[in-house]
Amino acid sequence: MQFRLPEEKDEEALKEYVQEHYDNGEQGISASMGLPVMEYADWLTKIRSNADSGTPEWGRSIVFVCLEGDRIIGLLSVRYELPKDLSDSIGDVGYGVRPSERRKGYATKMLEYALSVCKEKGMKKVILGCYKDNIASGATIRKCGGILIAENENYQEGKVSQYYAIEV
Ligand SMILES: CC(C)(COP(=O)(O)OP(=O)(O)OC[C@H]1O[C@@H](n2cnc3c(N)ncnc32)[C@H](O)[C@@H]1OP(=O)(O)O)[C@@H](O)C(=O)NCCC(=O)NCCS
Repeated sequence: MQFRLPEEKDEEALKEYVQEHYDNGEQGISASMGLPVMEYADWLTKIRSNADSGTPEWGRSIVFVCLEGDRIIGLLSVRYELPKDLSDSIGDVGYGVRPSERRKGYATKMLEYALSVCKEKGMKKVILGCYKDNIASGATIRKCGGILIAENENYQEGKVSQYYAIEV
């Protein structure tokens, strides 16, 4: 699996990536940072600016397209400078795998890569959040060493959110 920043040439492939989610009845595109509702050029500018200079609220963060050859398999967001309150509520890493490529081990590889980036950026502990009923994401996080932080469990949008910590 290869990881790189999105480029101009990815526009059509990313459109198709988003459409595959819609065709499977999914509305949210994890780690897409607003891609479905933005002009592609504006989205690229935002992603590059987030990586280069960041924002006062989030610090710097990186969105990776995750590929197998030319095919986009998933999107990965590594938010390695979040202040503690945001890290504790949204987590330092977000990811999604296109429906047709799930259960093939890709999210595990993506999270492992994200953890290596976090380590390289100087983090010692990475926080991951997921809804309690998201069996697939919870399994992915635990597989990568996530330890549940039981006391941080809360309700978000009527669902139970859980948080895991991974030492890197
Ligand atoms: C969560 C998600 C990224 C997992 O991607 P994936 O590539 O299918 O995950 P992997 O193949 O690496 O599997 C990782 C673990 O999860 C388990 N798993 C994956 N999908 C599962 C499912 N539907 N039900 C039960 N377990 C599942 C796998 O069996 C594996 O555990 P194991 O090796 O112990 O058996 C993917 O389902 C997805 O994109 N979902 C929508 C977006 C999302 O929820 N993102 C995370 C937000 S917190």
